[in-house]
Amino acid sequence: MAAQNNAPLPDGLDIAGYRIVKKIASGGFSIVYLAYDEDGNAVAIKEYLPSSLALRQPGELVPLISPENLPIFRIGLKCFFEEGRALARITHPNVVSVVNFFRANETVYMVMAYESGRSLQDHILRRRDKGEKPLVSERFIRKMFSQVMNGLREVHTNKLLHLDLKPANIYLRVDGTPILLDFGAARQTLRTDSPKLYPMYTPGFAPAELYSKNGNLGPWTDIYSIGASMFACMVGTPPQPADQRKVNDRMESHYRKLEGVYSPELIEVIRWSLSVDPLARPQSVFALQKALKTKVPEKEVGKVEKFSRKFRVLFGFKDNDRMPGDVTTTIHENSR
Ligand SMILES: Nc1ncnc2c1ncn2[C@@H]1O[C@H](COP(=O)(O)OP(=O)(O)O)[C@@H](O)[C@H]1O
Ligand SMILES: [Mg+2]
Repeated sequence: MAAQNNAPLPDGLDIAGYRIVKKIASGGFSIVYLAYDEDGNAVAIKEYLPSSLALRQPGELVPLISPENLPIFRIGLKCFFEEGRALARITHPNVVSVVNFFRANETVYMVMAYESGRSLQDHILRRRDKGEKPLVSERFIRKMFSQVMNGLREVHTNKLLHLDLKPANIYLRVDGTPILLDFGAARQTLRTDSPKLYPMYTPGFAPAELYSKNGNLGPWTDIYSIGASMFACMVGTPPQPADQRKVNDRMESHYRKLEGVYSPELIEVIRWSLSVDPLARPQSVFALQKALKTKVPEKEVGKVEKFSRKFRVLFGFKDNDRMPGDVTTTIHENSR
């Protein structure tokens, strides 16, 4: 069955004690809604509904699933559920908080605390559109990713891997703290059982071991994606896809372009995390965090920022010309 657009649940629907307000996002795998619980707290409800397997017509609640797709739909459903159950055990400020699960409409729903903010991907794109230079400051990258990795460490400690880390799955609260969203383990299982369903990896963010059916996955797999996400913050686009890198690796020329904008230490951390060979990467999040914490001479970090301040003064911008909710500003200030 070709992928199709599924109709979302209708606004205002009451379901398992929650009231749906509206759809806030839909991907190929699920639909996310803003809803309220009985006490009026905002929640985000994620509905398992892979569009390549299930079709929901407008006006319907229960999706149509063809008999040939049903076994795979059920495997994915079970994994979505198991993954949510594992996630529900994790309480960490940098990991999305899963508060409930329920079954309805012949599928599964994961209820999360609603977080107000925007994805790191949106943040990067906004800054790119505004022509900000550097795209994202070194200070922001170091501070924000060290928090992301605190969350990831907790995930790994619980014997889970994320497997789909990328700026679209890192969410920034209004105060600038990041949260890990959208764990890919369920999709991973689908991939193993039915490789032709849809590409399970996001080119550029996925290391080579995710491309092969029996790749050796581990913390180093997520670490590659962390390196790729840091790279995307600096450049505005993902690194060269891992399969192409195996044939003709052009990453060195990209790293060279970052020299002078970011410190050699930070570029080196990214180069290390993005090693094609999984064994050549940091083997644990802790090792990567340690490398990221290495002191960088203040003159290196400050160079670009001082330049941009000078530029603002020259052209008559004031510091408060920044967007009030600018996440960079908040983190920047918090990091002092
Ligand atoms: N807990 C949450 N609070 C607020 N928004 C959320 C939450 N979870 C997901 N979202 C929104 O839904 C989008 C998609 O969620 P995600 O879990 O990444 O699902 P998908 O599988 O569709 O990529 C996110 O980028 C975010 O905008
Ligand atoms: Mg996502």
